[in-house]
Order: sequence, then C-alpha cells, then structure tokens
Amino acid sequence: MPIIRPKSAQILCELVQVQAPKRVLEVGTAIGYSAILMLEHAPDARLVTIEKDACRLEIARQNFEKAGLSPRVETILGDANQVVQNLDGTFDFIFLDGPKSHYGRQLPHLLNHLSVGGTIVADNVLFMGKVLSGEYPAHKHRTAILRLREFLQLVQTNPNLESKLLDVEDGMLIIKKIK
Ligand SMILES: C[S@@+](CC[C@H](N)C(=O)[O-])C[C@H]1O[C@@H](n2cnc3c(N)ncnc32)[C@H](O)[C@@H]1O
Repeated sequence: MPIIRPKSAQILCELVQVQAPKRVLEVGTAIGYSAILMLEHAPDARLVTIEKDACRLEIARQNFEKAGLSPRVETILGDANQVVQNLDGTFDFIFLDGPKSHYGRQLPHLLNHLSVGGTIVADNVLFMGKVLSGEYPAHKHRTAILRLREFLQLVQTNPNLESKLLDVEDGMLIIKKIK
C-alpha cells in the first residue's frame, strides 16, 4: 500500500503542528494514513481528502471511524484532476500526494483555493533522484519525470510562491503562498 514514508511523515506532522491549519486538503487518500497523522497533529483542523480508488477510500473511511476522526473528515471519491477544479472555499494547508505527473496541472486550481500564508507539501517530487539528474529520462517513467521537472520549474518561477526542496526519501517540496 503506497503510504507516506517515515521521515517524510515526520516532517509533515511537524509542519502541521507548527502551522496549526484549520482547513486541510489532501490529494491522494489511499487508506487514510497521512490524513490521520495530519488530523492528530492539528487538533483544530478539518480535512477534505480526494481518492479515485473506491476500495481504498472505503478502507480509509473505516480507519477514520476507528480513529474517531470521521466528524472532521470529508472524503471525495473521484479523479482529483476534475475535483480540484470544483473545490469550495479556502484551505490553509494542502498535502499533494496523488498522481505525480499531474501535480503541475493541479497546481493553478490548488493555488486558487490556498490562503495567502498557506502551505502546499508535495511528496515524491524527485522520483528516485531522476528529476534532478539532468539526464533525459529513459522511456520508463519519462512522462512522470519530465512533468515533475516542469512542476518544480512552475513553482520556482512563480513570484507569489516561496519553496524549499527537501532531499528526504523521495523528495518533498514545501511551497508557501506569500501573496
Ligand atoms: C501515494 S498514495 C497516497 C498515500 C497517502 N497520502 C498516505 O500517505 O497515507 C497516492 C494515492 O493517490 C491515488 N490517486 C492516483 N491518481 C489519482 C487521481 N487522479 N485522483 C485521485 N486519486 C488518485 C491513488 O489511488 C493512491 O491511493
């Protein structure tokens, strides 16, 4: 089951704890592991989480129930590429952990719903080190690697954003909306 790795999870928890967001969006629920971590470290937060796999989302719902967190979670079953175009309201923290090759196309929609001062954490942005290697990628995973490079470029050249790339596990990008 693809869930956040330990060191990345620790960073995510620390960020959430320090920033104490009130409204969190997650793209890529899987079975709810990272969502539960975030809710446990931000006791005042409510969370909206998007997953396209109905079986995984059902397990996540059961896990939220067992953890006593269901009243604070809204789950959305669907393709995040569509869902992010029709979000309601503003979020102050977004965990981007869905399809890696679609981070870039989701970014403008996410930024429309991120408050100024808010944070996006994008996981697995380095794709086993291949994103920063400078080499033209071999056929396997080429699309994901090229699109992740474009995503990093998009973030780093946007004057409304500050970002920090952490070389931890598969790479985490911390993005702050400054205006
Ligand atoms: C890395 S896993 C998420 C792990 C989870 N955040 C955690 O750490 O506990 C990525 C998830 O994104 C989902 N996913 C992939 N493409 C998606 C899409 N287009 N829309 C919504 N979810 C998608 C996958 O089904 C998978 O469960």
